[in-house]
Amino acid sequence: MNITVIGTGYVGLVSGVCYAELGNHVICVDKDADKIDMLNAGGIPIYEPGLKELATASREAGRLSFTTDLPEAIRRSDIIILAVGTPPLPSGEANLAYINQAAIEIAEAMNGYKIIAVKSTVPVGTNERLAILIKSHTKERFDSISLPEFLREGSAIEDTLHPDRIIIGANCQSAADTMMLLHEPLTKHIVVTDIRSAEMIKYASNAFLATKISFINEIANICEKVGADVTQVAEGMGYDRRIGPSFLKAGIGYGGSCFPKDTSALIQIAGHVDYEFKLLRSVVEVNQDQRWSVIRKLETIFSGELRGKTIAVWGLAFKPNTDDVRDSPAVEIIRHLVENGVKVKAYDPIAMSNFRTIYNIENVEWCDQALETAKGADALCLLTEWDEFTTVDLGQLQAIMKQPILIDGRNVFKEENLLGTDFIYYSVGRPSLNQGVKQQMPVLLF
Ligand code: UGA
Repeated sequence: MNITVIGTGYVGLVSGVCYAELGNHVICVDKDADKIDMLNAGGIPIYEPGLKELATASREAGRLSFTTDLPEAIRRSDIIILAVGTPPLPSGEANLAYINQAAIEIAEAMNGYKIIAVKSTVPVGTNERLAILIKSHTKERFDSISLPEFLREGSAIEDTLHPDRIIIGANCQSAADTMMLLHEPLTKHIVVTDIRSAEMIKYASNAFLATKISFINEIANICEKVGADVTQVAEGMGYDRRIGPSFLKAGIGYGGSCFPKDTSALIQIAGHVDYEFKLLRSVVEVNQDQRWSVIRKLETIFSGELRGKTIAVWGLAFKPNTDDVRDSPAVEIIRHLVENGVKVKAYDPIAMSNFRTIYNIENVEWCDQALETAKGADALCLLTEWDEFTTVDLGQLQAIMKQPILIDGRNVFKEENLLGTDFIYYSVGRPSLNQGVKQQMPVLLF
């Protein structure tokens, strides 16, 4: 099939590359000429494992091209996929300015029937509004499809080529059939719904996953007080097929460009129809508070006196295997430490340059290596679970730190890693490992 994908952010670029991998002819369009030049020169503007190799193979086979010329791309394609950003406005609502603009440009370039599918995450009702907008700018026939995206950064290729399901929101059977044909090689689980339900499936899925995370984080906080271990609790819960094991990893909360944005947007969507989404409000509140657990632990250890201390930070990305730092818990944690007179040393294997450019936090010592970061530190905070941190020799680490204090915000270390070291160790929801390996929990009196 001949496909144009508009927007070469995470979703657009990965989708375009994967549609080309399936043998389709794909043109990826973006307004950013520098980005398009880079893509045409074989570069990839984001860090995503496996993406460069697939893009190069399809480009060399002549199935994938990149351009800023939107009208020409539209004329040469039968299916147009919109994957432009819908970043949050200060109110939490999705900013639809870019997608509206793209819709008008598509309409003005149309030279015959097209299927116009929206992959961008948009509030319920947006596809219908976009259809009206497009209709008012063209005489050509078209069908609208809602095609929500479920890929995760860091495993985007695997998620796209082997998705759990494909959701097609359509009000025209023949357009739905064409989209089913396009996605058939990927999965047997293709669900065709009405357009509004497809839009809602995307928000509901992200909101539910965010809820699982905030739920397990609250369980972790209670575990810390009652002497239970959240990793064992999550394992025990996860075997129940009605619950499932995924997204039950306690930590310092979710970040990224999706969960924070989509949970806020869904609260707003509900508000517009006079419904207060109380549960989701709490999920967001719990998540916001969870990142401060790192600071609270540091304050407990240093009796509230952080000023003058040297704190090392491992991990700046919102999760491993990505260079994305949007809404990463590391931002607020590092800002707070610096503002409170702490000397911060920080390191991330991939996301360092993004973090420095976007947040521009002064008075941080940016380091090139994990161990060098911890050298002379009074405490080390692990904020992102990159593999390279989990394989560090804790004996060696202890030897170079000023004080052996380790706050593990992602529960990556196990009891056996800590044996033989003198680390004062705090993790999330595993009190038996906190403050050294063998801590006596108080008797519970209810
Ligand atoms: C998320 C969804 O998982 C995708 O299905 C969706 O397509 C995407 O948003 C989107 O809307 O575009 P992503 O934000 O890339 O994907 O990353 P996740 O793997 O979902 O992780 C999100 C955050 O949750 C990370 O900060 C991660 O550290 C945290 N998390 C995840 C936990 O704290 N615990 C867990 O058990 C799982």
